[in-house]
Amino acid sequence: MKIIGTGRAHPAFTLTNSMLEDILDTSNEWIMERTGITQRQIITDEKLEDLAAEAARQALDDAGLTAKDIDLLICSNVVNEYATPSLGCVVEGLIGAECPTYDINAACSGFVYALSMAEAYLRSGMFRRILILCAEEPTRMVSWQDRSTCVLFGDAAGAVVVTAGDEMKAIRITATPKRDVLRYERMLQPTPYITKSESDVPLVMNGREVFKTAVTSSIADVKGVLSDSGVDKDEVKYYILHQANVRIIEAIREHFKQPAEKFPRNVDKYGNTSSASIPVMLDEMSRKGCFKRGDKLVLSAFGAGFTTAACLIEWAK
Ligand code: COA
Repeated sequence: MKIIGTGRAHPAFTLTNSMLEDILDTSNEWIMERTGITQRQIITDEKLEDLAAEAARQALDDAGLTAKDIDLLICSNVVNEYATPSLGCVVEGLIGAECPTYDINAACSGFVYALSMAEAYLRSGMFRRILILCAEEPTRMVSWQDRSTCVLFGDAAGAVVVTAGDEMKAIRITATPKRDVLRYERMLQPTPYITKSESDVPLVMNGREVFKTAVTSSIADVKGVLSDSGVDKDEVKYYILHQANVRIIEAIREHFKQPAEKFPRNVDKYGNTSSASIPVMLDEMSRKGCFKRGDKLVLSAFGAGFTTAACLIEWAK
């Protein structure tokens, strides 16, 4: 598998920490110190499907392809306004693709999970050109009265086009049942026969537990893909980690004793954009000219589930 195009889209509205001070008992200092986030782009009047379509179009343009050239669209999404049809189907209509599509929900690990599926399809020869689209609006899952969660997230869409190649050197995905540390419960339609109690609860998180699990599992995953690919940690050009919190990124960087510039960050300006965070970072860095062909990149993510995923790829563009 190799990545041949990237794209991204962000909502227009910038919500700064000082704006949050007006609606919550919080402070810019607290948010900065505990998370490294200064602002986030959040959905107001836009629709997530339009951001997703924009990211998809950019990735296709970057790959020199049109929507009709795509054999499969894998869409990573936790919530959007439809439970069905899938967001993939909605976006397909917007961009004019004519291929099978489905959504996956591996929470913030969704991008690397989708890469692992694409790798298997490409190896089998079943599909030749796959669009992976991660479109997320976590700001619609949190309570805006809950200062411990709503300050953390932002909305975004990121996309890549992949095709057959030898650039995926190692990939690992994991899941462990840990519903209590991070969950969002939605109320389903009642029926005349439902007697159990049900609730509509915004995102609930045990931040400390997520923090510890994220650091230990990401370190294990990164070690795993380094050892599977036979690549030394110093040979890696960039470690592109899920952008949730600079302290999580720092703890992982310190463990591997790597310089700060190898662990790029954009969580300061976008917040945690769930599975969109890694493809957004890839697109941002690619367009800035940060990558050369053959650069070794480690991608590593964690999310609700608890899911984790990491891979080692060589840049192919
Ligand atoms: N502003 C001000 N105070 C806040 C606050 C906010 N936005 N949010 C929480 N606090 C308060 C808490 O109420 C608590 O007060 P108390 O001591 O009076 O009870 C205090 O700050 C410390 O809270 P705690 O949860 O222990 O802080 P922390 O150092 O663990 O940082 C997180 C909280 C959420 C920033 C941190 O745990 C974290 O980033 N965890 C990982 C979360 C994550 O990545 N989630 C997404 C996974 S994909």
